[in-house]
Amino acid sequence: MIDRHTIAFVSGANRGLGAQFVARLLARGAGKVYAASRTGHIDIDDAHVIPVTLDITDDGSVTHAARLAADTTLLVNNAGVNRQSAFLAPHALDDARAEMDVNYFGTLRMARAFAPMLMESHGTMINVLSILARVSLPAMGSLCASKAAALRLTESMCAALAPHGVRVLAALPGAIDTDMSRDFAGPKLDAAETADAILDALADDAREIYVGTMAQQLVQGLASNRAATQAQLLFPSGDA
Ligand SMILES: NC(=O)c1ccc[n+]([C@@H]2O[C@H](COP(=O)([O-])OP(=O)(O)OC[C@H]3O[C@@H](n4cnc5c(N)ncnc54)[C@H](OP(=O)(O)O)[C@@H]3O)[C@@H](O)[C@H]2O)c1
Repeated sequence: MIDRHTIAFVSGANRGLGAQFVARLLARGAGKVYAASRTGHIDIDDAHVIPVTLDITDDGSVTHAARLAADTTLLVNNAGVNRQSAFLAPHALDDARAEMDVNYFGTLRMARAFAPMLMESHGTMINVLSILARVSLPAMGSLCASKAAALRLTESMCAALAPHGVRVLAALPGAIDTDMSRDFAGPKLDAAETADAILDALADDAREIYVGTMAQQLVQGLASNRAATQAQLLFPSGDA
């Protein structure tokens, strides 16, 4: 539930899904939204929005942000990167390191820095992952690995924080219409609707939310026939 007592912190809030999280949190009446970006600049002009400078790969930056936003009750770990890199690509190692650095270690660093205040407020953490945490796409294998690692991490955070009254929600959307998916030709989710669907999931006690038809069909396929569902993505022309 979002209300005037909600003090949210959104990473990667300057564009894409993060900007829509900020807008939808305000529309739902959040009392304050810390909107974090690497530049510290946010386009939204609203008295309830506090711009914060944050690079989630930097210890000092994360510590500083957590001190500044010590009253946070809802942390949205949204910032992420996708280098769209296959493992034989020339820069595959650099790409994999960058994805792990942001998507895995960045999420871990943020969760550790904000855990004390979430425990104090019995707050909530949303980790924005991807349906690609559950399957492999060869064209972006290292991205899938980084999101899968972040999903495992999210599950352990969920268990570790539950006794302290902190809810942890893993959000696994399909393709969203943002800069990150600009080269994807298939159907894409609207970013505002994706943010809304994820925030709606706070109304029940789910630990995971799969957003959109693509994500929901994949997760159903994995449940009924994991090997066949994964094979369709690995060998789309049936040349296994
Ligand atoms: N788009 C999709 O199809 C899709 C699908 C499933 C899941 N997701 C996930 O949704 C989340 C939001 O992605 P998006 O689609 O909105 O992508 P986006 O438009 O590319 O935005 C990514 C955001 O993350 C920020 N960011 C990147 N590295 C950062 C760092 N080291 N520290 C702090 N912020 C950093 C970016 O900041 P700068 O502007 O400074 O680069 C930007 O604000 C990501 O976790 C992504 O993996 C996206």
